[in-house]
Amino acid sequence: MTTPEAYSHFRETLDYIRRYYKGEVEVGIVLGTGLGRLAEAIEKEHQLAYNFIPHFPISTVESHFGRLIFGRLGGKKVVAMQGRFHYYEGYNMYQITYPIRIMKLLGAHTLLLSNAAGALNLTYKLGDLMIITDHINLLPENPLRGVNLDQLGPRFPDMSAPYHPELIAKARAIAQRLGIPVREGVYVAVQGPNLETRAEYRFLRIIGGDVVGMSTVPECIIANHMGMRVFAMSIVTDIGDPDNLKPVSLEEIIHVANEAEPKLTQIFTHLVAEL
Ligand code: HPA
Repeated sequence: MTTPEAYSHFRETLDYIRRYYKGEVEVGIVLGTGLGRLAEAIEKEHQLAYNFIPHFPISTVESHFGRLIFGRLGGKKVVAMQGRFHYYEGYNMYQITYPIRIMKLLGAHTLLLSNAAGALNLTYKLGDLMIITDHINLLPENPLRGVNLDQLGPRFPDMSAPYHPELIAKARAIAQRLGIPVREGVYVAVQGPNLETRAEYRFLRIIGGDVVGMSTVPECIIANHMGMRVFAMSIVTDIGDPDNLKPVSLEEIIHVANEAEPKLTQIFTHLVAEL
């Protein structure tokens, strides 16, 4: 939960980061499950392991790397999280979204998010890319719960366009130019860590979801609160077909994400260049 101590946490974190990286930051990027290699496209200037950064949580999942990368992508100054925090790992929402607040305080005006997700829309195929146009938040806690940090944003932030329409249009045009097919749809965020039952996949489809995953929405809410522009993409790593459901493993999810990752990297790189 957010408390008034947050401001002193931010100061300590920023003091530490600024000892190692004094450059500007324009864009924040969060690399999702199986998508950490997008970091290879960044001309790195500095890297900081999460476990040394004051008030940063420590990453627990092996498929995530756990470091903050400062450098250039598409000619812009970026900071990327290689490895994100999930609610199912036991972190609270304040911890999960803490790095996003730090990105904004470092100067980032735009946030790019990526994730692996299961398809609810049965026209989607394994490895498909989907631009997130909207979300449904079924996570059990809201990252803005607690005192409002008035210096960062309003108590009741608007959510009429949490994913920036201009960025969506730009990404759509870029994908078309590069010949990369992309879907556009609604992301449903659930707690996990178990995948869905057949009845749950059916339910999530009925309520309007195109894909389902365990991340992204908390970061999106916090970024919107602070007035950042948000763009997010999912990679379809499994198909939640209630009438033909096959068991999936984390290994398969990571494999499919890895395979599709170069396409996502291209779109992100061009999008950052055009910001
Ligand atoms: N459900 C929830 N989260 C996921 C899935 C899924 O099918 N695939 C990847 N993340």
